[in-house]
Amino acid sequence: MCGIIGYTGQRERVHDVLLTGLAGLEYRGYDSAGIAVADESLTVHKRAGEVATLEAALPTEGVDGLAGIGHTRWSTHGPPTDANAHPHTDCDAQVAVVHNGIIENYAALRRDLEAEGHTFTSETDTEVIPHLIEAARERGAPPEAAFRDAIQQLEGSYAVAAVFPDSETVYAARHESPLVLGLGDDGHYLASDVPAFIDFTDRVVYLEDGQLAQITPSALVITDEQGAVVTPTVDRIAWDPEDAGKAGYDHYMLKEIHEQPAAIRQCLRGRVSELEGTVTIDELADLDCEGPVQFVACGTSYHAALYGARLLRERGIPAQCFLASEYAVDSIPVSAETLVVGVTQSGETADTMGALRQANRVGATTLALTNVVGSSAARECDHVMYIRAGPEIGVAATKTFASQQVALAMLASVLAGERSTAFVERVRALPDQIQQVLDESPARAVAETYADADAYFFIGRGYNAPVALEGALKLKEISYTHAEGFAAGELKHGPLALVTERTPVFALVTSGSSAAKTLGNVKEVEARGAPVVAVTDIPNEVGQAVDDVLEVPSAGPRFTPILANIQLQLVAYWIAHRLGRSIDKPRNLAKSVTVD
Ligand code: G6P
Repeated sequence: MCGIIGYTGQRERVHDVLLTGLAGLEYRGYDSAGIAVADESLTVHKRAGEVATLEAALPTEGVDGLAGIGHTRWSTHGPPTDANAHPHTDCDAQVAVVHNGIIENYAALRRDLEAEGHTFTSETDTEVIPHLIEAARERGAPPEAAFRDAIQQLEGSYAVAAVFPDSETVYAARHESPLVLGLGDDGHYLASDVPAFIDFTDRVVYLEDGQLAQITPSALVITDEQGAVVTPTVDRIAWDPEDAGKAGYDHYMLKEIHEQPAAIRQCLRGRVSELEGTVTIDELADLDCEGPVQFVACGTSYHAALYGARLLRERGIPAQCFLASEYAVDSIPVSAETLVVGVTQSGETADTMGALRQANRVGATTLALTNVVGSSAARECDHVMYIRAGPEIGVAATKTFASQQVALAMLASVLAGERSTAFVERVRALPDQIQQVLDESPARAVAETYADADAYFFIGRGYNAPVALEGALKLKEISYTHAEGFAAGELKHGPLALVTERTPVFALVTSGSSAAKTLGNVKEVEARGAPVVAVTDIPNEVGQAVDDVLEVPSAGPRFTPILANIQLQLVAYWIAHRLGRSIDKPRNLAKSVTVD
């Protein structure tokens, strides 16, 4: 997965817009970066490494022009090298192309193009696109027709942008990869995601699959697959540019952890009535769900989905949870009555989209629970519910997990037709309780104590079980240390063999029927010499039995685990900080994984 930026407008702004855009897109991929600027000829600069490496390699003058495109890469075909970085050009540098996605038929296209005499300089699937455009140009096609001709030959997923010499037009197309256009007073933009140009404009148009866009300084023209002009719908983005910056925190992750009270308030706004004890999700007004619910999701979103499935089952609604990459409608019973819910922060994860598309094909009702307005999941599902967490830049999901949990709690209440003032009161109290955890947490000191361990284990039961999985995932993602989460009862069935005095155990022991049993598991690991940190709302009962306590307020058995997770986010952050890791951009990981 990669990030794309394009701009046409004032020639002296091209350089600045492209580099600002690339910095805003680095969360989508950061193993190489490049830009192409169109003037009388095309100028291409590209480098393996982060955007800063590219920036350092750029000449101080001469990178302005009529129009430009840029790209941050996360490798799929070919390792991160200068040659494999985008943009790619044809044999005579008469077109430059950036691409996000995968061209599935690239090998056959490349073979044919090479047979016709085209010379390739990279190992990427992308490079077939400029050569296809070149071939069409040689047959006499003007730029737009040549671009369209090339796009029509591609199979797979793509967002593509191209520029030609002596032209102020940027051409773009998409199929199953995100692409959004920006309308500014001083030109037009395009990007994989809004943070790339949010500094410059908040007016956007989401390109649909199969559409082709041409932007010039003064015009934005969208056409459908047949070439007919489509009237664009202009949306306004509610985020201000400040939202996309670090706002004084060392890392986006820490900032996003601290944004959780605001994110939850935003998620709840206008959706809960304390007086009536009801939840109303306007987007879901026409959702009619009788039947079983199947959740599909990956990574952190899968942990939120596990939490959500339990909330439904507890209300008598049959609900299962599947890793999206394991979902297969030929082995899982799905009918027209089934509601398939894709939980996906980005709305673009290929595995989750694959599962949702399968569900759509067999006639199930689909619902996207996502953060990104206009994302593929939002557009392709029958229904969408937004978690409203705002942009999340840190690769490790934090505020979006909490927002997913709260959104799923509201969804469960809606699907169950529930009327409960106690539920609404509890959920409304969460932002302040999260703030209390953030203000009082001793997580940094706990992290200092245990930062040199060999491995970490996280245990919890019931609603705490997915939180234990998430606590371990967060720690391994950003600290590169071995960490595993278990349903506490499973510990004795194998993982206990790994427990030593050098493997701290984080035990989620929150009030409710399973607290006593989890305390029993705490005893088991202590007997093997492991230090234990309890995350708990009942420190008086638990504190004596453990080495350290991370206290959280009581929010009832369903919601206290949401608060417990905040403590684990902080522990992960401070351990990774102590180890000097690349917290916002952990090695080998990307925010939005658009390959399956
Ligand atoms: C990637 C990210 C994870 C995320 C997962 C699912 O692996 O690194 O943080 O949980 O994708 O992403 P989604 O956007 O579908 O929630």
